[in-house]
Amino acid sequence: MCGIVGYIGHREAYPIVIKGLQRLEYRGYDSAGVMIYDGEDVKVCKTKGKVVDLEAKAAIEMKTGGTIGIGHTRWATHGVPNDVNSHPHVSNSGDLVIIHNGIIENYAPLKEELIKRGYVFHSDTDTEVLVNLIEEIQKNENQKLGKAVQIALNQVVGAYAIAVFDKKNPTEIVAARLGSPLAIGIGEGEYFIASDASPFIEYTSNAVYLEDGEMANIRLHKKIKVRKIQDDSLVDPYIQELQMNLEQIEKGGYDHFMLKEIYEQPSVIKDTYRGRLHANEGIIQMSGIEDNLEKFLNADRIIIVACGTSWHAGLVAEYIFEEFARIPVEVEYASEFRYRNPIINSRDVVIAISQSGETADTMAAIKLAKENGAFVFGVCNVVGSSISRESHAGAYTHAGPEIGVASTKAFTTQITVLTMIALRLAKAKGTMSLSDFHMYLQELELIPEKVKEALETNDRAKEIAATFKDAPNCLYLGRGYNFPVALEGALKLKEISYIHAEGYPAAEMKHGPIALIDEHMPVVVIAPKQGHYDKIVSNIQEIKSRSGRIIAIVTKGDTQVRDLADYVIEIPETSDALSPLITTIPLQLLSYHIAVLRECNVDQPRNLAKSVTVE
Ligand code: M6R
Repeated sequence: MCGIVGYIGHREAYPIVIKGLQRLEYRGYDSAGVMIYDGEDVKVCKTKGKVVDLEAKAAIEMKTGGTIGIGHTRWATHGVPNDVNSHPHVSNSGDLVIIHNGIIENYAPLKEELIKRGYVFHSDTDTEVLVNLIEEIQKNENQKLGKAVQIALNQVVGAYAIAVFDKKNPTEIVAARLGSPLAIGIGEGEYFIASDASPFIEYTSNAVYLEDGEMANIRLHKKIKVRKIQDDSLVDPYIQELQMNLEQIEKGGYDHFMLKEIYEQPSVIKDTYRGRLHANEGIIQMSGIEDNLEKFLNADRIIIVACGTSWHAGLVAEYIFEEFARIPVEVEYASEFRYRNPIINSRDVVIAISQSGETADTMAAIKLAKENGAFVFGVCNVVGSSISRESHAGAYTHAGPEIGVASTKAFTTQITVLTMIALRLAKAKGTMSLSDFHMYLQELELIPEKVKEALETNDRAKEIAATFKDAPNCLYLGRGYNFPVALEGALKLKEISYIHAEGYPAAEMKHGPIALIDEHMPVVVIAPKQGHYDKIVSNIQEIKSRSGRIIAIVTKGDTQVRDLADYVIEIPETSDALSPLITTIPLQLLSYHIAVLRECNVDQPRNLAKSVTVE
């Protein structure tokens, strides 16, 4: 859950590393650091704060010339965010320099042993232990860097993506991964190392993604050598052509990535169903499903595992799968599932949902499911990510890079994929009438246009945001398909504006949360015409009679709720099952504007990171 970048080649390394770190800041942004080798010595600069703070410090403290460099942007696990705990970490001799994303779980006994051998530690990090362990092995066993790294990694327990440089042999960087992602960009006479491909996208479109348990010797003017850390066997690296382009990872005129990503939803939802949904022909075709149709049709149940926003998409999917395909569904927090000794068997299909494809708990949950014989289907956004590779089969969401920490387009594209799967299964099982099947296909095809229309509520959302920006609490209510949307709306608000918010099924309100309602409490009610409209109108009455301030998301033309609510936001009509794709849009905009008005860091909220690669 940190970002790492490295460069070895003929260009000046510093600007490449800094720009790369900026693109990886979504992975962690509490401190940053860089090492440049200038041909004679290593120069290290690191600081608490963001990459801009690092740049400012480096401008004063460091000569930045040199064609080899590594850098790190941190999300602290061991040791508070401060200058000393920032990466890179340098070994006691000053020769070895390391950057690390992950956790070395057995660092304490290793550290104790190294202290006994005279090593001195300056930071509280597990990473400083690793770099000195490598040094100790190098010295004791007279090993070259690659071999020493390999021996050390066979002694550590935990997760890592690392890049290590040795000033005694300054034409090489050694990289390795286990449980944290690592991509190597292959250019003409130059290599790039990064947590994802975004730092090198403008230099090369060829990349090797290291698999778990692999390491690479990356040497100037030589082919990279990839081997298994455990048994030293050589691996033929698979060079992948990247699909990402530069425009996708830049803000494109928007103030924040989050806003850009909210506005991308009409086009990315289209990308999600392109080539898969053929409404006129009445066909849904997804190769991952077609190739494994029997597995789904014979499943006793579907278990969905995910975290955060992806878990909310899973809840929407539960309603859709059960209604459309009549398959029992359980939705589990991956972090609970993996540790609670769940009953899993070979007739279960496990769907893992993850934007990043790197979430550690989701990864662990699918490993557990596989060990117990279940069939695992991944719904990921990041192509080539760990979860997509670990799954037996899957479907990508094709949302393009999501950089804002708050998930927006990931949510709607996940729901789009899951809806298509449910429809395909419903057709195969005959659990839905043909006319309904055709109706849903047509409806789904119209969703991008309706999302576009829903985005026109932006000004209204901004106005309402100005009224409620100082509220200390907020309640979100929805029923049926829109209960998970209420959870998602509340999550969006709390993570980027730091306002305490809770999502609730509207009817449950009477069992406790109603006690919170008074004239100071904003209550966002998702009340589209389709679904349990009359019931939710009654819930609105209940809030009104307790003086709650109601912000209602309603279907265009609704008059009944308009008369009751303090504020309404109108959205286009769609079927109940597809409504989360529309109702979520004004909630994203509302939380965005509230966070902007509160002067919060929208794209990089405090304490968070985009990929949670630690459990
Ligand atoms: O990459 P994933 O979808 O597996 O991430 C799961 C959560 O960390 C993520 O959805 C998180 O809750 C969002 N950033 C919330 O907006």
